[in-house]
Amino acid sequence: PLTLAVLVSGNGSNLQAIIDRIEAGEIHARIACVISNVHGVFALERARRHGIPTVIHANGAFATRREYDNALVEVLRTHRVELVVLAGFMRILSDVMIGAFPGAVINIHPALLPAFPGLHAQKQALEYGVKFSGCTVHFVDNGTDTGPIILQAVVPVMQDDSEESLSRRILQEEHRIFPESIRLFAEGKLSFHGRQVRISS
Ligand code: GAR
Repeated sequence: PLTLAVLVSGNGSNLQAIIDRIEAGEIHARIACVISNVHGVFALERARRHGIPTVIHANGAFATRREYDNALVEVLRTHRVELVVLAGFMRILSDVMIGAFPGAVINIHPALLPAFPGLHAQKQALEYGVKFSGCTVHFVDNGTDTGPIILQAVVPVMQDDSEESLSRRILQEEHRIFPESIRLFAEGKLSFHGRQVRISS
């Protein structure tokens, strides 16, 4: 099986969706560890409930972004990780991490990139007044939410949506396309043509 690390900062509902698809035998992968940059988040509890080792890699413990990332790479190498999955990991990675795992770090973003990168994507979409938004799974490059796109899903924006209601609708699609992207990666079905990611059947 493909060896994964899942990096989290919060509730971990995407982590749960990935665990469930692996346990159902639909993805040939194994989560070697769940790494959080925040203490006490529910994602860590979810990992423990499924017997997955957890690591706290706290923001404050390192002076610079590159020092943080160097230590993170150590942890990932110790666990022989082949694919790094950013599942609500609210911290920007440096060239150190990207360089150590080229083409092997993926992220989920709660908007249709390249629209609304960065923080509070759902709020950005509501304030802009778009009629549709969604989510994007992409490979991570040195920019913020700029890497090659693997899968996207669209949801409508309703007139009376709050940030919470729109986020919930988007999350339902995240829970579908994120595990699906990992399955495609694990089965060797993703290839690069320039910055386009092609999916073979
Ligand atoms: C998800 O909506 C994810 O797309 C978003 O954080 C949420 C995490 O939820 N990620 C970002 O905004 C990244 N900048 P979860 O902890 O329940 O999976």
